[in-house]
Amino acid sequence: MTEVRRPDDMIRITTPELAEAFIDEQIALIREQVGEKKVLLALSGGVDSSVVAALLIRAIGQQLVCVHVNHGLLRKGEPEQVIEVFRNQMKANLIYVDATDRFLDKLAGVADPETKRKIIGGEFIEVFAEEARKLEGIEFLAQGTIWPDILESEAGIKAHHNAGGLPEDMKFELVEPVRILFKDEVRVVGKQLGLPDNMVYRQPFPGPGLGVRCPGAITRDRLEAVRESDAILREEFAKNGLEGKVWQYFTVVPDFKSTGVKDGKRTFDWPCIIRAINTTDVMEVTVEHLPDALIDHLVQRIITEVPGINRVLYDFTPKPPATVEYE
Ligand code: XMP
Repeated sequence: MTEVRRPDDMIRITTPELAEAFIDEQIALIREQVGEKKVLLALSGGVDSSVVAALLIRAIGQQLVCVHVNHGLLRKGEPEQVIEVFRNQMKANLIYVDATDRFLDKLAGVADPETKRKIIGGEFIEVFAEEARKLEGIEFLAQGTIWPDILESEAGIKAHHNAGGLPEDMKFELVEPVRILFKDEVRVVGKQLGLPDNMVYRQPFPGPGLGVRCPGAITRDRLEAVRESDAILREEFAKNGLEGKVWQYFTVVPDFKSTGVKDGKRTFDWPCIIRAINTTDVMEVTVEHLPDALIDHLVQRIITEVPGINRVLYDFTPKPPATVEYE
């Protein structure tokens, strides 16, 4: 198949009407490419794979098989939302794999950030390939490749993960219905396809998930502290009108402890670091300064609701010199 490229004169998709026209066009193309055959998709719940899933469900319904791998490093409520939206509401053919134990067992005792990332990426492909092998008659693999991915891979900035790094013997023809779109256009199309706002407009979330926000060797209790504090932060940002305004915000729970006191007794627990940043290109970021009252409220909630935390810190460091994530 010749590689589809974005036409130089393509109008930016900014309205529901333009999105609808794109959707109609893609549905016809997908049906023409796939016919009666089956298509496999790794559905993470991120913007790109969710929009691809919604498009394919419209185009070919039950011929699409979605696989959602829960690596145990997702944010609170994410796997549940994928099941609710795609299986319950859109009636998709969805295979849900809870691989939490597999991932966390492999990651146990591994402190080096690059090794952690490699284990998470490698294990993901292994779990996905295992599921794919159980299925019969799959000839196509759908991917949420977008136009910047193509441009970056051509510029040598990023390796284009063609076929998701699957083993050599697993050959699929690719279906990439959003490959000529920029991110903002993917969101407009996703909204038009009826995906919920918190899925379409969500903040960036790294592939290795909460694993990079649990620096050093991941333990289940510290990972849970990251997940719970992140959920509190997101809830408070939504309540205070900051959702969609601040580019990215999250919590980190480093692997050191400090002394504290609770109910007259000495504690020895972790700190929780809050990071909230703004950027346009992620090369340089500035720090979002929160109102004092919100900081106080966040501190109170996190130290009372999250087991294992006895301090809350705020990261005031821009990028450079600090990267957005801690690993
Ligand atoms: P850094 O930490 O490099 O992050 O300043 C820049 C942006 O990239 C996101 N990020 C990732 N996204 N896989 C991803 O899909 C990754 O491994 C990864 N690491 C960082 C980060 O959240 C920030 O938005």
